[in-house]
Amino acid sequence: MYSKIKAAVVGSINMDIILNMERVPDVGENVLGTSYGYACGGKGANQAIGLARLGAKTKIAGKVANDTNGHKLLENLKKNGVDVSKVSTGGSQTGLAAIILDGEGRNRIVVYEGANAEIDPDEAADCIDESLDLLLVQFETREEVVIKCVNRAIEKGAVTVVDCGPAKNFALEKMQGVTIITPNESETKALTGVYPDSEKTILEASKILSERSRAKFVVLKLGERGCSVWDGERLKIIPSYPCKVVDTTAAGDSFTAAMALEFVRSGDIYAACDMGNRAGSFAVGRMGAVNSMPTADEIRKTYVDKTSEI
Ligand code: ATP
Ligand code: RIB
Repeated sequence: MYSKIKAAVVGSINMDIILNMERVPDVGENVLGTSYGYACGGKGANQAIGLARLGAKTKIAGKVANDTNGHKLLENLKKNGVDVSKVSTGGSQTGLAAIILDGEGRNRIVVYEGANAEIDPDEAADCIDESLDLLLVQFETREEVVIKCVNRAIEKGAVTVVDCGPAKNFALEKMQGVTIITPNESETKALTGVYPDSEKTILEASKILSERSRAKFVVLKLGERGCSVWDGERLKIIPSYPCKVVDTTAAGDSFTAAMALEFVRSGDIYAACDMGNRAGSFAVGRMGAVNSMPTADEIRKTYVDKTSEI
């Protein structure tokens, strides 16, 4: 049961502005948009809400500013059942992401980090103690924050899941022995120099990630192809659940949250990846970041076969 799981996320909290258009402009070109809107986002907040919607007892450590966006984002986290007592409101400006979405639901994102870059590593690590089952982090906060929190969680015996977004070459060597490391395709390329577009390159990249982080499992998110698992001996591809693509934003966040919870519950990495694919497919089929993430009820109703226990 996910409701018995105690999870923490250390990560970013952003206001997203989403601008829709048929096609994105070339350099120097001006195109007409079709609509726009604001949505609560940030990889950390999205994943925290993903966990909470699936029923886990979830808290987030992060930072916003004492401004309108900061207040809205905190309200939304609370509304979705996330404990925000470890979110500081002392930042200079709340994080902002400008997302442009083309007619095929593909996004391009620019992030202004703001308060997310001002998180104090010691304050963030304060949310990690022996009672924690799961720590989830991403790379949208400073490297020292991620490293400090992951190492503390490993020391305290929690499952540690490292989502490698956004793409950058992070010092994985400084957090040896994480449970699961999970980049998408472009993040894999940034960390390994290898783009995972074939079984050969998936294996090559997974081995590099495994060596760099000593992770127990390397799980690559492969978009419509689903995901791959490397456990140090065997590579397996777990296929996705086909769906109509509306907006891929937060598909990765949705995948990571569901995969992490199912792994903590069952200890079965393949069942975990299958659950991640289900949640990812939900997020792709709906508009928005956090709004597109499934609840445990939605997953249960749609996939009644294997999910009666969650
Ligand atoms: P994001 O758009 O949030 O940055 P991402 O690039 O981090 O996403 P993806 O690999 O694109 O991550 O998607 C995460 C998961 O969502 C995939 O592993 C898969 O399970 C699911 N998914 C993504 N795209 C599709 C699709 N077209 N059809 C079905 N499932 C999909
Ligand atoms: O993963 C999607 C998120 O990335 C968006 O919500 C945006 O805030 C960026 O951080």
